[in-house]
Amino acid sequence: MTKPLSVAVAGLGTVGAGVLTLLRDNAATITARAGRPIAVTAVSARDRTRDRGVSIAGLRWYDDPVALAHDPNVDVVVEAIGGSEGQGADLVRAALKAGKPVVTANKALLAVHGAELAALAESKGVALAYEAAVAGGIPAIKALREGLAANDISRVLGILNGTCNYILTQMRERGIEFAQALSEAQKLGYAEADPAFDVDGIDAAHKLAILAALAFGRPVDFDAVHVEGIRAISALDIKLAEELGYRIKLLGIARRTDAGIETRMHPCMVPVAHPIARVDGVFNAVVAEGDFVGRIVLEGRGAGAGPTASAICADLIDVARGRTTPVWGVASPDLSHAPNVPMSKRVGAYYLRLMVVDRPGVIADVTAALRDHHISLESMLQRGRAPGEVVPVVVTTHDCEEAQMRAAIARIEALEAVLETPAMIRIEAL
Ligand SMILES: NC(=O)c1ccc[n+]([C@@H]2O[C@H](COP(=O)([O-])OP(=O)(O)OC[C@H]3O[C@@H](n4cnc5c(N)ncnc54)[C@H](OP(=O)(O)O)[C@@H]3O)[C@@H](O)[C@H]2O)c1
Repeated sequence: MTKPLSVAVAGLGTVGAGVLTLLRDNAATITARAGRPIAVTAVSARDRTRDRGVSIAGLRWYDDPVALAHDPNVDVVVEAIGGSEGQGADLVRAALKAGKPVVTANKALLAVHGAELAALAESKGVALAYEAAVAGGIPAIKALREGLAANDISRVLGILNGTCNYILTQMRERGIEFAQALSEAQKLGYAEADPAFDVDGIDAAHKLAILAALAFGRPVDFDAVHVEGIRAISALDIKLAEELGYRIKLLGIARRTDAGIETRMHPCMVPVAHPIARVDGVFNAVVAEGDFVGRIVLEGRGAGAGPTASAICADLIDVARGRTTPVWGVASPDLSHAPNVPMSKRVGAYYLRLMVVDRPGVIADVTAALRDHHISLESMLQRGRAPGEVVPVVVTTHDCEEAQMRAAIARIEALEAVLETPAMIRIEAL
């Protein structure tokens, strides 16, 4: 039997413990596919005494995860600590510098420091693998980097945060508001006590930055991603969207346009018939569009011990086999430098919901503001008539530029009869 691949696992939380369990439970399958056994020999976490639901007896223990990088009996390091800075990041750098391949689930680290780390890994000729960092168990990285490698990709988009998708699904199915859906998700363990990273779109934007780098062969650029979360979505907008034939999803979209690359994370209205509209609950999905392949849709579990360990172990099998590809699909010096397209240049249709006092002339004022900014109406819907009362008015537009829409909204918001900040949701033609 060929020498086993000796693995160090740093971080023994949901992900790290899941990796130990999967390597143990599926040892025979993994050995066959890797051509040799893959064995964890060293681990690191903060609390040595904590019960992790999986035995760590007989494994070398390190209080300092960075020390794993210098253990001569470790062939490959799995980083499952997390964070764009701190011990997880220090370990990844130290391991790569020591010439050890790294497998990580850390999207924050890759989104923020991915360009530097890729250059380091390539200079050392070792793998930096991160299938688990995007959409958990969905093999989106492999699909984009290898399966679709011959295509020019025009767009990649996805539902990249299960917490947000769960909340939006609950809001739609039960007609509840965001605050209630969030608090229930927290009780069920689907949302963190501090939900900001998820509901404000940051976690998903990290993943989008990674997908965009891969899809378009350019240095990962988290700062270029326009990020909005789902806090402003109301049950009313979800209901009105349904009436118009749309579902509201938090989508990450990276798109090639004549002006460069758009990368944006925000709630979208998507046609009910599109496969992504049907991806509900904690599930994730990634859609890629290539010039020869057409559209592909991948759906699955985006988080949790099993799916994430599945992705990490697939990367370990590649390392065991000696299969490597450049971190971003093309070698760092060959990455393209296509410009970023700012959000103000996004062209598309818009949904606008206003709460207005029902009195003569209001609709004329709203349509005049749109007309003056060269925005043409696709539809307008007023729910019931209640003279003197506040009623919702919904406008959908034909394609226009985001900057035009923003200017029109500023004018509409200033109208005396418009009582709340207008709700604006972008309609995506998919
Ligand atoms: N959870 C998921 O479903 C999922 C999915 C995809 C990607 N990820 C990514 O995977 C990574 C880990 O996530 P997780 O959910 O497994 O987190 P977690 O459950 O909070 O586990 C983190 C682990 O890191 C250890 N740790 C923290 N600081 C450390 C330090 N300074 N030195 C040594 N160990 C340290 C903790 O030790 P103690 O246990 O002793 O406290 C814990 O075992 C993150 O990058 C996350 O974004 C997670």
